[in-house]
Amino acid sequence: MARKKLIAANWKMYKTPDEAKAFFAEFLPLVAAHTRDEIAIFPSPVLLPTVIDAAKGSKISVGAQNIHFADEGAYTGETSIGQLKAIGGTHTLIGHSERRQYFAETDEIVNKKLHAALKHCIVPIVCIGEVLEEREAGKTAEVLKKQVTGAFAGITPEAAAPIVIAYEPVWAIGTGKTATPEMAAEAHAIVRAEVAKILGAPVANAMRILYGGSVKPDNASALLNQAEIDGALVGGASLKADSFKAIVTY
Ligand code: PGA
Repeated sequence: MARKKLIAANWKMYKTPDEAKAFFAEFLPLVAAHTRDEIAIFPSPVLLPTVIDAAKGSKISVGAQNIHFADEGAYTGETSIGQLKAIGGTHTLIGHSERRQYFAETDEIVNKKLHAALKHCIVPIVCIGEVLEEREAGKTAEVLKKQVTGAFAGITPEAAAPIVIAYEPVWAIGTGKTATPEMAAEAHAIVRAEVAKILGAPVANAMRILYGGSVKPDNASALLNQAEIDGALVGGASLKADSFKAIVTY
């Protein structure tokens, strides 16, 4: 069965509520007739209620950029999955490279968050990817396999269906450098083979693997037309309605 593509916007720490509303006022009419792909938007926590409200009645899903693995507790500054669900959030990013790099998220933490998301029926997008030194040292496959194995520890094939993976080479994020479609497809094949080893071929073949890292209107179609690439996680180019629309409708 063909995997439906998912085009996701990671807004990072950008936009005020008014700017988010203005984005939706412009974006919704542009994609009102677009049913080919799923669309999801990941704003900062403060924007979530505004964005969830703005997306109501559309087919756009809204999720968090990060969640805590605990149901509740004394974790200053964190957001629980229950809180996200209570306001209508349905998805979450997990282990984005900026979380790994600046907030010390390890594969073990990613794994705990993945278990928590699945337990609470939130769609997790698990982010993985190698840094430049690892690619240059020929270690890309090794790094990706380690990240997949770490993230998926204790996950059963029965529970794994909602999981989405985002392959984001760290050297391509926010740099304007993109992996070529062939490089991305090769990495996706490595990731899918590793998922097959852990969870079996049927689960691996159904799992969506997105590409992220400087996806722009002018490279989206070459990337998204690769059979191995099941969507995109878009940072910078998702902040403007017209450029995100151009990617969604590649
Ligand atoms: P970018 O970010 O599109 O700005 O490179 C992608 C991401 O961080 O998910």
